[in-house]
Amino acid sequence: MSSIDNPHFVLRRLHSLLGVVPVGAFLAFHLWENSQSRFGAEHFNTEVVDALSGLNYLPFIEIGLIALPLAFHAFYGLAIIGSGRPEPLRYGYTRNWLYWLQRVSGVGLLLFILMHVAMTRIAGLMDPAIHADLFGHMRAALSNPWVFGVYLVGLWLAVLHLSNGLATAAISWGLTASAAAQRRFGWVCLGLGLLLGVIGTHGLIGYLIAPTTGIA
Ligand code: HEM
Repeated sequence: MSSIDNPHFVLRRLHSLLGVVPVGAFLAFHLWENSQSRFGAEHFNTEVVDALSGLNYLPFIEIGLIALPLAFHAFYGLAIIGSGRPEPLRYGYTRNWLYWLQRVSGVGLLLFILMHVAMTRIAGLMDPAIHADLFGHMRAALSNPWVFGVYLVGLWLAVLHLSNGLATAAISWGLTASAAAQRRFGWVCLGLGLLLGVIGTHGLIGYLIAPTTGIA
């Protein structure tokens, strides 16, 4: 039953909406924010980390607008994967492939996000020295090629998941009804995904090449 009276329909719509805003919007902001690593430790630690840490209502923003919507999207996403119900919208070789990519990237992302939050936000709360020099902390971590590799994979899983998710969300919400509109918007989403991936990769490399003192 696909109606507003069906609780699964409403939860599914909520899952879709939260994946776009605020979670998808936050991902785009987060990648841009990290690309500022390129301008060096001083700029990053003061102009980015300290400035954001000083925002009013920060706990509400972090918990209410990021953590809870992401937790709902992730756990309902696991329930969708577990239910294994084939999606009537997704037919054909490419669609089927993207359908699985969305699920595999979701699970990989969940593991990556848990690791990333533990080694940045939680570590920073437990040790103020880490929070005070997040740039140095990330630079030390990313200097290990294994950690860099895990971050690179996590980043590209995230942008693939978001860009394919935007294309399927547009179908779910009836914004792209015809096959031609879906194809056109698919290209737009692919372009956006590539752009975000390049911004994110630039940010990861920025931690390694930018100066640890002064502003680049
Ligand atoms: C950076 C974090 C994430 C973002 C930005 C994001 C975004 C999105 C978007 C926009 C959609 C499309 C919704 C639709 O088709 O209507 C989606 C779908 C999906 N997401 Fe996520 N997501 C994230 C993390 C996760 C995690 C951690 C999981 C955990 C498994 C997950 C599981 C899923 C699943 C299974 C779908 C497909 C739902 C379907 O086919 O109906 N996502 N995501």
